[in-house]
Amino acid sequence: MGSLSGRRIVLGVTGGIAAYKAVEVCRRLVDAGAHVSPVLTDGALEMVGATTFSALASEPARTSLFHDPETPIPHTVLGQNADLVLICPATARIISDIRTGRSADLLMATVLATRAPVMVCPAMHTEMWEQASVQENVDVLEERGVLIVPPESGRLAGGDIGHGRLADPAIIAAAAERALAPGDLVARRVLVTAGGTREPIDAVRYVGNRSSGKQGHAVAAEAAARGADVVLVTTRAESAPSGVRVVPVETAAEMASVCEIEAVDAEIVVMAAAVADFRPAKSADGKLKKHDGAPEVELVPTTDILAGLGERKPAGQVLVGFAAETTDLLDNAAAKLERKNLDMIVANDVSKLGVGFEHETNEVIVLMADGSRHHVPLSDKRDVARTVLDAARSRLESDPTNQE
Ligand code: CTP
Repeated sequence: MGSLSGRRIVLGVTGGIAAYKAVEVCRRLVDAGAHVSPVLTDGALEMVGATTFSALASEPARTSLFHDPETPIPHTVLGQNADLVLICPATARIISDIRTGRSADLLMATVLATRAPVMVCPAMHTEMWEQASVQENVDVLEERGVLIVPPESGRLAGGDIGHGRLADPAIIAAAAERALAPGDLVARRVLVTAGGTREPIDAVRYVGNRSSGKQGHAVAAEAAARGADVVLVTTRAESAPSGVRVVPVETAAEMASVCEIEAVDAEIVVMAAAVADFRPAKSADGKLKKHDGAPEVELVPTTDILAGLGERKPAGQVLVGFAAETTDLLDNAAAKLERKNLDMIVANDVSKLGVGFEHETNEVIVLMADGSRHHVPLSDKRDVARTVLDAARSRLESDPTNQE
């Protein structure tokens, strides 16, 4: 579970057409372990039913400042208990009310009664979004520390195309996660590689492996959620998390040349990619035809990217490798740690059930260069990512080069 696990989020829904997308945001937050308390304004109730939110959230949706069966003061209970108040979608009306502090309904009373961060996801027609008054209100909110998830361009209500469409639910959930993350990697430069490289035989065939990129992507998402500037070099760009700079690559050679440049000023490098050790010596430009018979594919070694980064490692950088093994896990991993000049290596026995390739879960042992070890029992890949980054951060901070 990520930084949303166990956190209390008031999800304020106001009366925009995009209110139906707040249902998806609610589901994502609950799936990530958050306790979501929905608050719907009268306008929202014209767009979506409270029952939908009651069914999906962690407690029944609230719609009124009065007649709450549990408490006469729902706004203070909600506001004081919240870790985040997320308003999605946010109409021009609520944005204006937040600016002026006008307590018109339960949601506004909750915004006023909280010390938690407030995140606003505006959604409205382009003409409304571009009004000087709305822009000025948003600027003032931002200056006061309200977090804004800006709208996107795209299809709007009524079929118009323009700016003002609610941000994608995945982006909103990631922003909420970032807002609640410990923030212990703020502005740290982190390079992550992920996925299996594909080494071409001809125009359509390749030599590849079963890596899904999920573990590397989880590391990238966790680092971004904790405030890092993340570059993700991946062969699975289509499933990359939001909030990171993605560099799509295919082959080991492409990954090597991108990493050579990107690693120069990275403070943490996590080499989670399953890089092919061998590639076809030559690849045909077109498609090889079956009637020409089975091709002889001669394999030649690729460059070991991680070993190269280990040789050129700048002072203070934390270099993290992965070792996917089927036998002698710890001995093999410890040998790679030493041979490739790493600070830590994440070892997993991929012959075990639920571990490694293509799974959502992983079980790993993190071996540190100083001999210490951290065992992560079978867990979500995001939990593994958290342990890896916790260890990398303490290594980074304990390195004398990084101390002022
Ligand atoms: N790696 C790399 N470049 C390669 C091969 C591997 O950067 N050409 C990196 C992987 O990303 C991983 C680590 O090296 O972080 C371990 O890879 P692995 O293939 O297990 O190590 P090898 O040294 O190739 O050992 P072996 O194949 O004998 O297990």
